[in-house]
Amino acid sequence: LRFVVVKNDGLDRSLISLIDMKSIYSKQLPKMGKEYIVRLVLDRSHTSLACVFEGEIVGGVTYRRHATQAFAEIAFCAVSATHQVRGYGTRLMNQLKEHCKREGIHFLLTYADNHAIGYFRKQGFQKQVTMKRERWLGYIKDYDGGTLMECAIDTQVDYLN
Ligand code: ACO
Repeated sequence: LRFVVVKNDGLDRSLISLIDMKSIYSKQLPKMGKEYIVRLVLDRSHTSLACVFEGEIVGGVTYRRHATQAFAEIAFCAVSATHQVRGYGTRLMNQLKEHCKREGIHFLLTYADNHAIGYFRKQGFQKQVTMKRERWLGYIKDYDGGTLMECAIDTQVDYLN
């Protein structure tokens, strides 16, 4: 299993990877509009982390970094149906935490789908947001139908060990 950071830098191979991730997100998150997913995945202020198995993208997470506020918002996170429950989702989140830690991010926020709350809990997210409201309010879009969850990133922890 490999993990690759992908951004819309205009290169063909980056765009192909982002479109592959978009397809997984729209299949796994059918309630989210396809146009909305494409827009955010291709948006240059978003970063994606692709999970690659035998040369094929089988999952990913797309997030937006708010550098001045030292937090990142996860927009989408999914693993393709045939590759779920093999621990890839956990490894993906650990990679994201380690990557964010190195980028000076101290918190992750996400609006979790109700059926994904259990997954995020297992990844160390909680419903109680400990960041001060003014630090995140206005930086992330309000999205009803999801539960806002937070995960603190500990600079002392090696998330890949
Ligand atoms: N509810 C409760 N527990 C779950 C769920 C769930 N929906 N999904 C996985 N878990 C558990 C697993 O049983 C496992 O527990 P264990 O460690 O005790 O064995 C643990 O969480 C991690 O499982 P993984 O195999 O690492 O996760 P997986 O590779 O299956 O990926 C994911 C999890 C990403 C949620 C996947 O199921 C998926 O793509 N679901 C559909 C899309 C989705 O709901 N994405 C999140 C939406 S919210 C957002 O994107 C902001």
